[in-house]
Amino acid sequence: MAQGKDKSVVRQGVVRLGVNLDHVATVRQARGTPYPDLATAIHIAEDAGADGITLHLREDRRHIQDADIETARKCIRSTLNMEMAATEEMVEIAIRTQPGFCCIVPEKREELTTEGGLDLTKKPEVLEAACRRLADAGIIVSLFVEPDLKVLDRAYAMGARAIELHTGTYADTEDGDELKRELERLHKAAQHAHKIGLTVNAGHGLRRDNVHAIAELPYMNELNIGHSIIADAVFMGLSDAVREMKKAMTGK
Ligand code: PXP
Repeated sequence: MAQGKDKSVVRQGVVRLGVNLDHVATVRQARGTPYPDLATAIHIAEDAGADGITLHLREDRRHIQDADIETARKCIRSTLNMEMAATEEMVEIAIRTQPGFCCIVPEKREELTTEGGLDLTKKPEVLEAACRRLADAGIIVSLFVEPDLKVLDRAYAMGARAIELHTGTYADTEDGDELKRELERLHKAAQHAHKIGLTVNAGHGLRRDNVHAIAELPYMNELNIGHSIIADAVFMGLSDAVREMKKAMTGK
């Protein structure tokens, strides 16, 4: 079955965990070794309960490589979420690969990681064309955005049928009032996104100690989590790191 036709991404009820394995490739690329093997990481994560696997093929290929995307497409039993910038090159690769869904993110070469949601007012025609071409190829398109109601309306109008709410501000703040405000923004955004027909996903900066409130947001479909799972895996192994994250999502 073509992954683009996989309906599991819109399942309601239990919040899904998409495990981002970019940093398995980061360790490999640091030395140019063949290990740690990405396919093995995918199998371990899926066996431990990952509902999907996320890989970000960056323009600068700092971690995930083109061959990784091909390997992942062949060995993933769950759903592949390909994270990418809205460039011609990435759209071509995604159409060739047929992931279950694509999450379009902003990308800057100098950033350490994705720094915020997409600015949908910047080159909207480029984003719109990317959304249309991916959707025409049967791929569900998600846009990584800030929890802002106007931005959500724009995302829908551009052809996205899913969004990933940026949780980085929530995750980074240590100020109680800001945390409350940000959770409220995310709450309202999740409600609004669902109301206008968008599947609601979220991610960035989530850890076992802050994930529960996000998993509890209304209509939450999937959380995409990478860095903290790989960091936990250093001490407890990948399998337990995935299991413990799933437990934390439920508040246990
Ligand atoms: N969602 C998006 C759109 C991202 O760019 C990233 C980072 O690659 C994540 C989720 C995962 O964030 P983290 O690694 O902080 O869990």
